[in-house]
Amino acid sequence: KKVVLAYSGGLDTSVIAKWLQTEYNCEVVTFTADLGQGEEVEPARAKAEALGIKEIFIDDLREEFARDFVFPMFRANTIYEGEYLLGTSIARPLIAKRLIEIANETGADAIAHGATGKGNDQVRFELGAYALKPGVKVIAPWREWDLTSRETLMAYCAEHDIKVENKAGKKSPYSMDANLLHISYEGDILENPWNEPEEDMWLWSVSPENAPDEAAYITLTFKNGDPVAIDGVDKSPATIMEELNKLAGAHGIGRVDIVENRYVGMKARGCYETPAGTVLLKAHRAIESITLDREAAHLKDELMPRYANLIYNGYWWSPERKMLQAAIDETQDVVNGDVRVKLYKGNVIVVGRRSDDTLFDEKIATFEDDAGAYDQKDAAGFIKLNALRLRTAAKKGRSFLK
Ligand code: ARG
Ligand code: SIN
Repeated sequence: KKVVLAYSGGLDTSVIAKWLQTEYNCEVVTFTADLGQGEEVEPARAKAEALGIKEIFIDDLREEFARDFVFPMFRANTIYEGEYLLGTSIARPLIAKRLIEIANETGADAIAHGATGKGNDQVRFELGAYALKPGVKVIAPWREWDLTSRETLMAYCAEHDIKVENKAGKKSPYSMDANLLHISYEGDILENPWNEPEEDMWLWSVSPENAPDEAAYITLTFKNGDPVAIDGVDKSPATIMEELNKLAGAHGIGRVDIVENRYVGMKARGCYETPAGTVLLKAHRAIESITLDREAAHLKDELMPRYANLIYNGYWWSPERKMLQAAIDETQDVVNGDVRVKLYKGNVIVVGRRSDDTLFDEKIATFEDDAGAYDQKDAAGFIKLNALRLRTAAKKGRSFLK
């Protein structure tokens, strides 16, 4: 019996590795991914070795994550419940895919993860795993064991000789998750939705109050709906995310504080920093505003909440996601050009857009003499026919006043 564990190298997943070995008596394979969380992943190797793990997988998935998950999602201008940019949600299907690939490579029949039984992440890992390997067994220790408090967990560590790092300095009290798209904070004082987060919780951005008085201007170039360059310099997907996170974070951009609806039914309070994502969302909409047909753009906007829900709820690997992705991608071959944005004290302000594929026609739109490009007389009939049903009803005595 062999199980592939999504292993961060932290305390919880170290305990899980030991617990799988002792309770399930199975061989544990660990998988640790660099998704741009900003922490070294290599130390996970020595920690896994110390736990007696023989097969240790450590992968740099940053480019794949940005290129094949974040960017496709951003083509739809995706946001959940009007606010959440899905930083954690979009990383889970990639982790699920790698867990299954490694299971197939190493001949494991099970996967395990450190998500609790109360959240979204368990659903995302497991839906992904079942979709990609229907016969896989799933072990979710948080739903099974009795190590439900910090104390019992510590006692377990002492009993099994698991090193609990005692770094000087305080450990963050929050449940956190980070990758190229965001860093999240849940739990502790945030569990009361009335409590404002303390300033030192935020790790990636300055507060708008402390942001520079001078705005920063950047130009983003899009190709087929994806960002490809910053200020005219071509960059890889992960590099674009990394650089925009720094630039936008320094201007206090991308903080969100919300109460969201988890798929399992509960409301949960979460705080997020998504600096690059916030800039990209604005800029992508701006380039679409001049390149997309109106009806195509509006239809995309109608589909977007469906697409956001499906990602939030863990259905990346599903027929409905493939369908929606195909429709979204179909629109993006004309989404090319440059967007100029200004970053200033927590705001992303679009100040310019241009494209060889623009549908914006100055000759038509001008307030000056358009030399016959648009015949204003045409508008009279357009409006009259659109008013026909309203006039018909009004003549019948129907009132629309209340
Ligand atoms: N509430 C967010 C979501 O469902 C963030 C979850 C963070 N996960 C974590 N393991 N800390 O996507
Ligand atoms: C967890 O419960 O493991 C984290 C939060 C979530 O998955 O929603």
